[in-house]
Amino acid sequence: MKKISIAIDGPAGAGKSTIAKIIAKKLNIEYIDTGAMYRAVTLKILRDNIDINDKEQLLNMLNNIEIKFVNNRIYLDGLDVSEEIRMPHVGKYVSQVAAIKEVREKLVLLQRNIAKNSSVIMDGRDIGTNVLKDADVKIFLIASVEERAKRRYKELKQKGIEVSYEDILREIEKRDFIDSTREVNPLKKAEDAIIVDSSNKTIDEVVEEILNIISFKIKGCEYGII
Ligand code: CDP
Ligand code: CDP
Repeated sequence: MKKISIAIDGPAGAGKSTIAKIIAKKLNIEYIDTGAMYRAVTLKILRDNIDINDKEQLLNMLNNIEIKFVNNRIYLDGLDVSEEIRMPHVGKYVSQVAAIKEVREKLVLLQRNIAKNSSVIMDGRDIGTNVLKDADVKIFLIASVEERAKRRYKELKQKGIEVSYEDILREIEKRDFIDSTREVNPLKKAEDAIIVDSSNKTIDEVVEEILNIISFKIKGCEYGII
């Protein structure tokens, strides 16, 4: 099979990682969660009390950080932080960290390196517009902000984390705003991305819709005649 790359971008809670994971398994390709990488850097900043306005401290941290994916788990400096990066205190701060140019340069380089030698499905905010500009398929996955907050609320509740729906809604709105208005590679639909709205669809329905798009695109067919 030829090397393929699939980009999935969209706002928080649209279903990107859930859907990308399933598709990666079905197509037997690698899944890269770029949001997890920004969360890992944020966790390190919080843990080590790094002052993000102190450029020397920030660059020193970025030069020494080690982020790795092994079996869909993320390791920060050798430790599995897959659960910890999902905690609300990381979520509250991550968009501020992700708006820093130096942080993005470091992570985009890592992301492109991972995608260089293998077929990947990568999800994030700037994959189709920046990280994998030449991706074979670009999806822009959206859902209403209320639906996305509802999903996140349910997910955290199931994990036993107590938060109010209003707090989550506010956090998501704030994150959407920072992510789509920042100067460096903001969240934006790539011109050649296809919009998929997951608001009233089950996970299986979204997976099927995206798989249809992939099979058409990768065979070189025009989308729209499915
Ligand atoms: O899973 P959720 O949608 O909450 O977010 P995420 O994918 O884990 O990403 C967390 C944050 O990282 C986003 O809100 C963005 O600020 C940032 N991010 C980014 O700037 N660029 C990416 N390619 C991926 C994530
Ligand atoms: O990665 P992103 O932030 O875009 O979203 P996610 O973490 O994959 O999905 C957020 C939550 O929405 C998860 O609990 C999914 O199970 C759920 N979801 C859903 O209920 N219906 C969909 N069509 C897609 C996701």
